[in-house]
Amino acid sequence: DKGNHRHFMAKEIHEQPEVVGHVLGHYVDPAKQLLKLPEMPFDLAAIPRITIVACGTAYYAGVVAKYWFEQVARVPVDVDVASEFRYRECAMTPGGLALFISQSGETADTLAALRYCRSQDQHIASIVNVTESTIARESDHIFPTLAGPEIGVASTKAFVCQLMVLAVLAIATARARGAIDADEEQRLAAELTAMPRHLSDALHLGPLIEKLAQDELTDATDVLYLGRGASFPLALEGALKLKEISYIHAEGYPAGELKHGPIALIDDTLPVIVIAPWDRLFEKTVSNMQEVMARGGRIILLSDRKGISIAGDEATAVVELPDVDPFTAPILYAVPLQLVAYFTAVHKGTDVDQPRNLAKSVTVE
Ligand code: M6R
Repeated sequence: DKGNHRHFMAKEIHEQPEVVGHVLGHYVDPAKQLLKLPEMPFDLAAIPRITIVACGTAYYAGVVAKYWFEQVARVPVDVDVASEFRYRECAMTPGGLALFISQSGETADTLAALRYCRSQDQHIASIVNVTESTIARESDHIFPTLAGPEIGVASTKAFVCQLMVLAVLAIATARARGAIDADEEQRLAAELTAMPRHLSDALHLGPLIEKLAQDELTDATDVLYLGRGASFPLALEGALKLKEISYIHAEGYPAGELKHGPIALIDDTLPVIVIAPWDRLFEKTVSNMQEVMARGGRIILLSDRKGISIAGDEATAVVELPDVDPFTAPILYAVPLQLVAYFTAVHKGTDVDQPRNLAKSVTVE
């Protein structure tokens, strides 16, 4: 049932504040504002390394998590797409944590990667939406994403819930390893607790983004997405979402890689979506943005009040997101990227919920 929405994708985008609330109910103690995680069959303080493996959007959630685990918990993280990882014969440190992310829990390559890690003396944990799935059954421990059934082929609410769970896990790992104290845990938990409200605010940008999609993107043949730090995997995710449902070619790049190749593509027909919450890398991203402007590129800047007051004048269009801590920004910025893809596809008249050539669950390699 799509409720009063035109597509399942729209319904699932709008469910995000609510399902994120479910994640918080499960993983955060509201009275103490501390995390509550069930007993795990491994010790987060003792794991020498984390290996994250997934496909598609779930892989991009894993790339965001790499930034979080490394920055906050100071633990080394490898992240790979399952189809590469499973055949790579990767050398693994015994006793490491292998973490699999999958909405369906049935993705063939992710499952094969899990079985390889089992043979390599790893603790096996998975972040799954379907808790009765094969990946869930074969794991030592599962972290449910609690997003509810996701029908749209393009993953939206599952991605945001994966990020929420990964953020919780990164904070818990940081605490277990003494990398942060209880005050900092409380501060970060409070930032997560505020997410349903921020996500609702971001959803109000729908009409503005619809117009922007129509004016700037519907006729584009290619779109470039740029970001730095944890906004880089968001650029990859934004590009994947646009490709999947609007069939427009799109690429995500780390903003700093621009001058190593993709800048050759820039002309006045190429929209460039810049994901730049105001953070310690903001000025760096702005200088990449200026390089695009100087070559006639059309910039769509996703930022917050401060970022837009500094750099908004230089952009062709801006989308102002609520002010959030840089730690939680990737969760929030997923929403405008989903809306950009959604409205572009709606205007192009493509099949939003069942895009051509794609299946919701990829159970063959
Ligand atoms: O069920 P999974 O999370 O394992 O699926 C992984 C990918 O197939 C999936 O995320 C795919 O990339 C989506 N269609 C993205 O919107």
